[in-house]
Parts: sequence; C-alpha cells; structure tokens
Amino acid sequence: MTCTWIFLATVLTRVLIVSCQSSTPAEFVSQDGDTYTYRDAAEGNVTCLKCPPGTHLGKHCSPHDGRSSTICHPCQRGSFTSQLNVLSECSRCRATCNDSEGRMTVKNCIPSADRKCGCKDGYHASVSRDTCIRHTECARGYGVIHAGNSTRDTVCEKCQIGKTYSDVTSPTEPCKRVRMCGAAEVAQPSLGQSDNECVVPETVNHGNGTSVDGLDMTMFMVFFMSSFIGLLVLVSVARAVRTKWRGWHVQSVVGEVSAETGSVVSDPDSFILEADSKHLVSDDTE
Ligand SMILES: *[C@@H]1O[C@H](CO)[C@@H](O)[C@H](O)[C@H]1NC(C)=O
Ligand SMILES: *[C@@H]1O[C@H](CO)[C@@H](O)[C@H](O)[C@H]1NC(C)=O
Ligand SMILES: *[C@@H]1O[C@H](CO)[C@@H](O)[C@H](O)[C@H]1NC(C)=O
Ligand SMILES: *[C@@H]1O[C@H](CO)[C@@H](O)[C@H](O)[C@H]1NC(C)=O
Repeated sequence: MTCTWIFLATVLTRVLIVSCQSSTPAEFVSQDGDTYTYRDAAEGNVTCLKCPPGTHLGKHCSPHDGRSSTICHPCQRGSFTSQLNVLSECSRCRATCNDSEGRMTVKNCIPSADRKCGCKDGYHASVSRDTCIRHTECARGYGVIHAGNSTRDTVCEKCQIGKTYSDVTSPTEPCKRVRMCGAAEVAQPSLGQSDNECVVPETVNHGNGTSVDGLDMTMFMVFFMSSFIGLLVLVSVARAVRTKWRGWHVQSVVGEVSAETGSVVSDPDSFILEADSKHLVSDDTE
C-alpha cells in the first residue's frame, strides 16, 4: 500500500518536472563574449545576444528573428546587473552603508551598478575590506607621523623627550617642538607629554627659601631699614629716659646742695656736671 503511494508520488513528480522543463525549453549550451547559445527542442542550437547591464533576460531570441531579438527587461528599483548577462532576475543591491559601522555611501545603487560603501572620515578598511575600523589615536607623549586615510591606519611616533611633546590624545596631532627657554630661564622639561616650562630662577628657589634672591633682598632691605629706624627710636627713648632720670637725681642732689648753699638752680644741664662732680667728689672722699 505504502509502496504504491510512493510510486505514484514519484511518477507525479517526474511528470511535473518534465512539464516544467518543456515550458522553459532553455538549456544553455555555451557563451562567448556578447552572445550565448541555447538548445531548443525544435530548432536545435540557437545563438542570441546577451542582455546589457541594467537589464536581465526576459525571452531568448527566436531563430527566425535573428540573434538580436533577445528580450531584456530593465532591473527594478533596488536591483542591478553590472555586466552582459543571461540572468532571469537582477541581483539585489547590497545593504545601505551603515553609518554606525563607520561606513558611508560612495555610490548609490543604480540598475547597472551595485551600491558602493567606503569608510567614512576617521575610519579605514580592515584587511579583508569588509569592515571599517576607527583610526588609532596617538596617546599623550606620541604624535602622528602619517594620518590615517580610508585605506591606512594612523602611524604614531614617540615624542623625543626634551625636543618634542604631545599633550593630547589625537588621530591627527603630530609631536610639537618644545618651547626654548631664555638664557635667564630654567627649563623644567617634561617626559614628552607637555611643553617645557620656562621659569626664572627666583620663582624656582623662592619656595625652598634657601637663597637670597631679588625678592628676599627686598625683604631683607625692609627688615634692615625698619630695624635701623627701630634702633634709632630705641636709642632716643633711652637717651630721653636717661636724661629725665638724671634730671630727678640731680634735682634731689641739688636740693641737698641748695639746702647747704642756699642758691637757686636755673640751668639743669650745668647742674648735671656740677652735681655729678660733686657726687663723684663726695663718693671719692668717702
Ligand atoms: C549544439 O552545440 C553543442 C556544443 O557546441 C554540440 O555538442 C551539439 O552537437 C550541438 N547540437 C546541434 C543540434 O547542433
Ligand atoms: C548598523 O550597525 C549597528 C551596529 O552594528 C546595528 O546595531 C544596526 O542595526 C545597523 N543598522 C542597520 C540599518 O543595518
Ligand atoms: C593612504 O595613505 C597611504 C600612505 O600613507 C597611501 O599609499 C594611499 O594611497 C592612501 N590612500 C588613499 C585612499 O588616499
Ligand atoms: C627646591 O625644592 C624642590 C623640591 O622641594 C627640589 O626639587 C628643587 O631641587 C629645590 N631647588 C633648589 C634650588 O634647591
């Protein structure tokens, strides 16, 4: 029973295949340049012109109408053929160029040519050419020798310490020359990652406070002057105090003297000497 069904199915399939083949009698025999040959059940080998780019084969030429009677149909939107062909359908255009994969459209799809994608700015094609890769960025301390293009990645070099530097991470910036410091300046060189810092020595030394430089000299002068003035004031005060004290001392002495002599003191300065001499004399005699 099962065998009978399988047999019938096989026969039916064969019949269908045969009928399909007979409805499309094309059997390609050969092709050569712009022509091709097919075998026609009734007419034998027939040679026709191929279809031009932008079209596909609709119907073979007939041996009665000549080789150029091939019927070609134009490619529908979204499909293309780029060469002489005997295709029954045009090929589908490739997917749109995906921006987020670093691609951009170089040529749109037209009936005679497929869409062409390239790598957008900042990207280059992989070796296999099927992906776009973002250009390498040269790190700080490295500069660009060759900027990348659509086919080549960036080429970086190490900046020369003391001569060049790069303080940015960039796919385009080369190493820059370091600033030259003036004769009176001191260079504080970096390791190729930043520019030389030129500083006048007093700024360098001031923090350490170990040397007498311009600024310290000024402060020293101010200190010296104020000390001097202070000293002067101190001396004057001391003199004044001493004068006053001696005045009192003299007055008391003079008081005693006056009591003895009965004279009136009018000039205190003259009395200092007198009083002192009297006092000293009296000290000596004691
Ligand atoms: C058709 O061409 C093929 C290949 O060139 C050849 O072998 C065959 O004999 C040809 N048939 C006829 C009917 O000319
Ligand atoms: C483009 O590529 C991204 C990442 O591969 C993917 O997520 C996105 O679906 C793609 N878009 C299209 C329209 O193919
Ligand atoms: C990319 O640059 C390389 C050399 O750096 C060069 O040989 C190549 O032709 C360039 N490609 C394009 C598309 O400009
Ligand atoms: C100042 O001090 C710094 C560190 O504190 C040191 O590197 C530098 O050599 C010193 N400069 C001088 C002139 O002493």
